[in-house]
Amino acid sequence: MNEMQSGQEEFATIRHISTIKKPRVFESDVRLVKGKGTKKFGGGPKGCYWHIYLREKRAGRVFINWVEKNIVPQHASITVELNVQSRGQGIGTIAFRRACELSQYNEVYATIRKGNIASRIAAERAGFKPIENWEGRELLMIWKRNREGKIK
Ligand SMILES: CC(C)(COP(=O)(O)OP(=O)(O)OC[C@H]1O[C@@H](n2cnc3c(N)ncnc32)[C@H](O)[C@@H]1OP(=O)(O)O)[C@@H](O)C(=O)NCCC(=O)NCCS
Repeated sequence: MNEMQSGQEEFATIRHISTIKKPRVFESDVRLVKGKGTKKFGGGPKGCYWHIYLREKRAGRVFINWVEKNIVPQHASITVELNVQSRGQGIGTIAFRRACELSQYNEVYATIRKGNIASRIAAERAGFKPIENWEGRELLMIWKRNREGKIK
């Protein structure tokens, strides 16, 4: 096999590995554990912060900041950040939804880069809806609590 052939084979293997889907996690395997956060990461006034655990292993963090003004005046804004190895298993979807439900807010916004497909899909599966006619550079989505305390 010449050098070029072996390079192509290696590339094909990498592509193959990168398209393998990880198994989905069970809802009961994911825990949100309250933490303090820091000023910009859920620890500011009216903010909330949770460590995300997949069974006993820390998988990332989710936090909600209270934003006085920015894209919309006075709103709760959520961010989910998973460790690289914890992505693509459905943990993000669970974290978005559960943090909103655990929070004191009836409405939570998510600002998502338009190219961040994983984030958009996870937020949509968690019940976020895009704000129609929003013309900002990023996608603006909103989650609303219903009267029974569940998502609309
Ligand atoms: C964004 C993030 C929270 C999503 O969490 P996650 O657990 O990886 O997401 P999920 O597994 O619940 O769902 C992602 C879905 O998007 C799909 N997806 C990801 N990238 C995609 C792409 N480029 N095109 C199409 N679908 C894509 C995945 O295949 C998955 O769908 P599937 O379950 O049908 O396979 C996580 O990836 C992360 O922490 N990213 C870095 C930080 C970040 O961008 N945070 C968002 C700020 S709000």
